[in-house]
Amino acid sequence: MNYIKSVGIVGTGRALPDKIVTNKDLEQKVDTTDEWIRSRTGIGSRRVADENTATSDLATEAAKKALEDAGISVDEIDTIIVATVTPDMAFPSTACIVQKNLGADRAFAFDIGAACSGFVYALSVAENLIKGNMAKNALVIGAETLSKIINWEDRNTCVLFGDGAGAVVVKEVEEGYGIQGITLGSNGAKGEVLRQPAGGSRIPASIESVQNKLHFIAMDGNEVFKFAVRVMGQSSLETIKKSGLDLEDVDFFIPHQANIRIIDAAAKRLKLPKEKVYVNLHKYGNLSAASIPVALDEAVKEGKLQKGDNMVLVAFGGGLTWGSAVVKWSKEV
Ligand code: UT7
Repeated sequence: MNYIKSVGIVGTGRALPDKIVTNKDLEQKVDTTDEWIRSRTGIGSRRVADENTATSDLATEAAKKALEDAGISVDEIDTIIVATVTPDMAFPSTACIVQKNLGADRAFAFDIGAACSGFVYALSVAENLIKGNMAKNALVIGAETLSKIINWEDRNTCVLFGDGAGAVVVKEVEEGYGIQGITLGSNGAKGEVLRQPAGGSRIPASIESVQNKLHFIAMDGNEVFKFAVRVMGQSSLETIKKSGLDLEDVDFFIPHQANIRIIDAAAKRLKLPKEKVYVNLHKYGNLSAASIPVALDEAVKEGKLQKGDNMVLVAFGGGLTWGSAVVKWSKEV
């Protein structure tokens, strides 16, 4: 019989820009109020990168911290996977830029585009590269500078997003610990509701595309909301079952941080009390692919996870895409 490895997370790190933009600041820019943003989304402020900071800069900083936390040197990294929808440029990939910044010469590096679900997708790819003996140690990063593709005059979107990066080191762990199950899903037919229309081969950059504001995020918030409420609970339940667990076995829940009403609806469906649900979106807003790894790093550093805890990670996003993972925490605290 083939030996199947247990693969888990052995180090975490995060990087957030210093600049804080509050809801009050946004009241000066668009027709909105702190009260509207808080009550409809749960967001109080967000971090915004300065003009000299690109996604790879935040990704590199988060990666260095995750490597230090894991006690693994750069030379031991076999692969770097960056989940992002705000790469520094179309190519080279942001992962290759991070490789250069770190000096991780042995690694193969590539990006994953699954929007806000990107981190869960990347975690799944890393798990399977390790199980398939393609890599021993993987660096999985979710990193975004969404502020660069936001129309700061559009109140429907500018209040929602923020910048940041979270990184984890993934490797073989003690038998029975680590990733217990992952579910991924996509519905490309509904992709229209959340997109950045221009800048690719369909609508290449032109004076018209810029004048028509087609390089900014375009979103039908209500449609995304309905999709998110349905899929967050459904996907989590599927992965919990696939992992051989019951709802009572879930110790900790780290949902994609997009809207407190979406998080509350998912937690209710999973019958989870508030203390088991991690929330940081009041500080950072929606960090897209960076949302879960930033939240995970904060939760770990705040001592919220004990060895053996069953944690559910779940995300939804552009594509449309979704994904969830059950991870039995393998690190001693
Ligand atoms: O990671 C995935 C990324 N996207 C998401 O997660 C978005 C998911 N969707 C949502 O979070 C919510 O749908 C929103 C927060 C975007 C909107 O909340 P809602 O309760 O669905 O509001 P709505 O879209 O039904 O809009 C209600 C009203 C509209 O005005 P009218 O047409 O009723 O007069 C909007 O124009 O609220 C207005 N509105 C605002 N008002 C003040 C929209 N944005 C704002 C704003 N400030 N920032």
